[in-house]
Amino acid sequence: MTASATTPQVRHVSLAAPFQDQKPGTSGLRRPTPVFQQPHYLESFLEAVLQTLPGVQGGTLVVGGDGRYGNRRAIDVILRMACAHRVGRVITTTNGILSTPAASHLIRTSPGCVGGIILSASHNPGGPEEDFGVKVNGANGGPAPEQLSNAIHQATLTLQGYAVVETAAIPLDRPGHHRLGTTVVEVVDGVEDFVVLMQKLFDFDQLREFLGSGFPITFDALHAVTGPYARRIFEDLLGLPAGTVRHGAPLEDFGGGHPDPNLTYAKPLADALLQGDEFSFGAACDGDGDRNMILGRRCFVNPSDSLAVITAHATQVKGYGQGLAGVARSMPTSAAVDAVAETLAIPCYETPTGWKFFGTLLDAGKITLCGEESFGTGSDHVREKDGLWAVLFWLSILATERCSVATLMERHWATYGRHYYSRHDYEEVEQTAAAELYGTLQRQLPRLAGQPLAGDRIRQADEFSYTDPVDGSTSSRQGLRILLESGSRMIFRLSGTGTRGATLRLYLERYEPNNGALNLDPQTALAPLIRGADQLAGIRQHTGMSTPTVIT
Ligand code: G1P
Ligand code: ZN
Repeated sequence: MTASATTPQVRHVSLAAPFQDQKPGTSGLRRPTPVFQQPHYLESFLEAVLQTLPGVQGGTLVVGGDGRYGNRRAIDVILRMACAHRVGRVITTTNGILSTPAASHLIRTSPGCVGGIILSASHNPGGPEEDFGVKVNGANGGPAPEQLSNAIHQATLTLQGYAVVETAAIPLDRPGHHRLGTTVVEVVDGVEDFVVLMQKLFDFDQLREFLGSGFPITFDALHAVTGPYARRIFEDLLGLPAGTVRHGAPLEDFGGGHPDPNLTYAKPLADALLQGDEFSFGAACDGDGDRNMILGRRCFVNPSDSLAVITAHATQVKGYGQGLAGVARSMPTSAAVDAVAETLAIPCYETPTGWKFFGTLLDAGKITLCGEESFGTGSDHVREKDGLWAVLFWLSILATERCSVATLMERHWATYGRHYYSRHDYEEVEQTAAAELYGTLQRQLPRLAGQPLAGDRIRQADEFSYTDPVDGSTSSRQGLRILLESGSRMIFRLSGTGTRGATLRLYLERYEPNNGALNLDPQTALAPLIRGADQLAGIRQHTGMSTPTVIT
């Protein structure tokens, strides 16, 4: 153990004025890196966290990040502020690399842990001119619930200053124990612990045999946090050839890419699977490792369908053999999983967008699996969505079913029918234009029921609000819903994670029964709804954009 020579002196730094813009969004405080580099900006938010998170003094905190530009500096600041706040122990990782699901697991398994601070802007690009973020997780390992985020925000609004100590940076290049005043800093390997958890949930012998039997796969880490985890799992433990993991070295700017596993930003991988025949399976994860994209040969798996398939086959998978307590999906996610839940006769919950809403359901044992259309899937093994877990789940199903991804999807739709689904994102829309579009549609809602739309008729039009069935808390204004008589629907939401302008998300869904047309291109199947949405909300007119920036 190394100890700082003397107990470091606590310095109280005054703020000229409190920051007024530190309200966390859908997933933590995300801002362009230059905003975080303003003097005292990061420290202000951290001070609010350390003052607000219950049990910080004398407690244990987990700290790490996705390795993006600013990660190392932020960890250094956190350690020095944690010492000033007399945190008992900070657990951090070699080189500060820690995926979001691995952080969740570490929080859950470390005795006395009161929560964690995860440095990531998730799937947003990283670098000096790109984005940085700070996420706070609670003692259950999950994202801070709204009440805690609001309390942190409130604290920033009146903050007079912050406490910090000055000391040399703690080396993070290898595991070790250090002491900063009364705070113990433990540097651990951020990968191993998570890999052991995966080995408990999935049958690695079965996977090794299956993958070695002529089922070639490729995984794209997009130069983000999952690289070291994926290499360890796929190349070391499952014996796949070196190079199975592409872009496996975490880089501060993700190699200049956008670490979002979708068809637009993971295009080389998508092209390899959708246009080539080299691989039977491909997958990618995002910046901090909680998102996943699943691809088969010539087959893209929509994330809403992915949740449904996982639910339908869960009992074939080692860690889930005992069955499922229930499932949950975010409101804009398609109802594909609802159909499976109905057949399995298990409860299915509909929550607002954002992983934090699954936390109470998971903690109360009401659900085992949950997911979002935004490439997020997870289970009660942690309290975050988990990209590599989803990939291993899919491979475990395929190892049992011994068929292609495309065949698995066809069988699924032939059983449950198909929920054609797509999300259209309009990014970097001018704030006022987006607000105008949203506000205009919101005002129309009371008059819409009964109106014709998209060759159908509007059954119900409302703004989604949610009452948590466990703690009774309510969350309102969670997206505009246009529900049609046929069961089709369109949802309008404004993103809570974007950092530049506004992002309008339009979610489209149409159900086709199992004896109907199951093999249409989703954009074709949804064409009347796409036109209807523009007609209703004037998307082109308000945004000045004729096509979405990203279609998934
Ligand atoms: C987006 C997704 C949402 C997800 C969040 C964090 O939030 O839509 O499902 O939980 O990122 O990964 P949004 O930008 O829509 O607020
Ligand atoms: Zn993420």
